[in-house]
Amino acid sequence: MKEISLTIDGKKVSGLDGDTILDVCRANGIYVPTLCELKGLTNVGACRMCVVDIEGERRPNPSCTYPARDGLVVSTNTEKLEKYRRLILELMFTEKNHFCMFCEKSGDCELQAMAYRYQMDNVRYPYTTPPLAVDSLSEYMVIDHSRCILCGRCVRLCGEIEANHTLDFAKRGWKTIVSADLAHSLGGSSCTQCGACMQACPTGAIFSKLSLYKTRPKDCQQVNTVCPICAVGCELTVLTKDNNVVMIQAPQPTGEKGPLCRMGRFELLANGHKRITSPMIRDKEGKLKECTLDEALEAAASRMKKLGKNFTGVISARLPSETISLFCQFMRQAVGSSRIDTMGGEAYRAIAEGNKAFNKKGDGLDTECSLDEILKSDCIVLVGADPVKTHPIVASFIRRALDQNKAKLIVIDAANDVMPLRRNQWLRPKAGTEGILLNGLINAIVNKGSVKGREPSAKLVQSLSQYDASRVYAETGIEAADVELAAETYGKAKQAIIIYGQGVWHTKDTGLVISLLTLADLTGNREGDHSRVISLKPAANSRGAWQMGAAAKDLSLNHVQGLYLLISDEQVDNDEVLGWLRTIDFLVVQASYRSAVTSMADVVLPSPIWAERDGGQYVSMDGHVARSQKVIEPKKGLLQDQEILRDLSKKLGYELGSSQEVSCGQT
Ligand code: SF4
Ligand code: SF4
Ligand code: SF4
Ligand code: FES
Repeated sequence: MKEISLTIDGKKVSGLDGDTILDVCRANGIYVPTLCELKGLTNVGACRMCVVDIEGERRPNPSCTYPARDGLVVSTNTEKLEKYRRLILELMFTEKNHFCMFCEKSGDCELQAMAYRYQMDNVRYPYTTPPLAVDSLSEYMVIDHSRCILCGRCVRLCGEIEANHTLDFAKRGWKTIVSADLAHSLGGSSCTQCGACMQACPTGAIFSKLSLYKTRPKDCQQVNTVCPICAVGCELTVLTKDNNVVMIQAPQPTGEKGPLCRMGRFELLANGHKRITSPMIRDKEGKLKECTLDEALEAAASRMKKLGKNFTGVISARLPSETISLFCQFMRQAVGSSRIDTMGGEAYRAIAEGNKAFNKKGDGLDTECSLDEILKSDCIVLVGADPVKTHPIVASFIRRALDQNKAKLIVIDAANDVMPLRRNQWLRPKAGTEGILLNGLINAIVNKGSVKGREPSAKLVQSLSQYDASRVYAETGIEAADVELAAETYGKAKQAIIIYGQGVWHTKDTGLVISLLTLADLTGNREGDHSRVISLKPAANSRGAWQMGAAAKDLSLNHVQGLYLLISDEQVDNDEVLGWLRTIDFLVVQASYRSAVTSMADVVLPSPIWAERDGGQYVSMDGHVARSQKVIEPKKGLLQDQEILRDLSKKLGYELGSSQEVSCGQT
């Protein structure tokens, strides 16, 4: 970008073509007060705090919206400007209820900080303080309209980054408020509860119900770690006070992965489940009783010894790689069993087998593209996936692509109408006929001449000929015109992406994955070794666990005599899994919370929650490696999962090595 040169406060400074005056000031260490501006959002010049004098202009102009250009002469801190800024501040204070001592944000408020800066010991205008509502109907947040300075950061963040467009301004004049869906309270609106608007709000107008009056951020310790829930792998800034987690924020709400989602920001803080603080064993009357750790380990070890290679181990993929690796080592070396899986391991088997069959190498996980590709797409096909529920940041990336690139969204799902207000097409095949629909789609693309990538082989063309429109309609129930429309939209797109999820791998039909990869390949949606296809892996470290081979084998789970289930703080609420657990003769559960799973266990071992865990490695769904950190000390007497594994191993007469020594795939 071209360099430009201007004069600010008498000094020659440089900037880049396209910068605003505020950008140049910041780049050159010149302070200009701001309130409505937030890095990463478009600037709107709402608050006027950043006004500067520009030679040749009749009046002060906001520096956040004024384009810098060669030769400009700018003043940022004249007496007149400072008076003007103080006047604006006074008007903000008189317009609404900014009595700081009653405000949750006091001590951490940008408006209050600005008032200190301008030594605002009085105001010269009458207070108007109109009666404005407090909206507390949202599950996690409160909007107090009396604290709002109408800076619009929340509105822009909700629109530009979360791309949900829930917030906007409503009414006029002094009655103007930030409104959810123009008339609703936040709770009854389209809000995704991402909490980004709350983090972006410079005042106490939007605040968290979970962190309310607990502390001020400046009095907290901050630890950056990895979100342990879904496979997007967001970074969390966790604020703690007195060994309690009080707030979770995005390191940069307008940054790379955006604003966090309701799960990472709020649900990690409060889940309402009761902690397990002591080991337990089932007594002769069949009741779970608290016991010493030694007794619990003894009971678990004696059955593991007896069953040996028939004992099964299943571990949560929300745990760091080091713990998963040690668990595999424990199962193989100490128990003598290779019956090892992770929660959601069936996803790996379907994805890896499909990728392998298509790419003819490894498990093919590294042939998928990165999440950023979604932002560049002009057509998105969602297959058996509901990222709004399972991977909310992926959903916000999709919405951004729809907004910014005018992308088209095609949903292929036998059961769910995903993103109903945003999709262009919902293809709803009869359950179990998804493969026929996908092949029909490929056939239509080939017939329409939309092949832009690898030419289909004669064998493929021959096999596709079975999927003509009449067969596809007869079996899937999808009209030929709908298949053609989808084929045209996807085939003509410049950069299309396919995102698939559990609706695909639950079928255990590897052919579905192969069809999706074929679709991308024929239409040229491939860059080198990477197809524009993403599988929504189920848990934060699924990919890390899978890379170690922890889910490589499809175990026969018909009759499991003994199971060691290390779920830590993951909740198991799937009826099918719960039903299966009931059939197991001897169940050892290592968990953080009481649940239906622990209530059917024979031995319960306590486990730390995400924040108490020692740090470790996580691999996100698109292969980004990050390290989690311990945020708070575990509850008194609670051991780390790895320490329990080592103690249990000793009971079996085996000393475990370092957690990285043996990968799960090794025997
Ligand atoms: S929480 Fe998120 S979706 Fe809801 S209003 Fe705020 S920014 Fe928009
Ligand atoms: S609620 Fe907060 S962020 Fe939104 S306009 Fe008001 S002061 Fe600004
Ligand atoms: S999108 Fe996933 S990784 Fe990001 S905050 Fe939400 S649950 Fe955590
Ligand atoms: S920061 Fe420029 S007008 Fe608000």
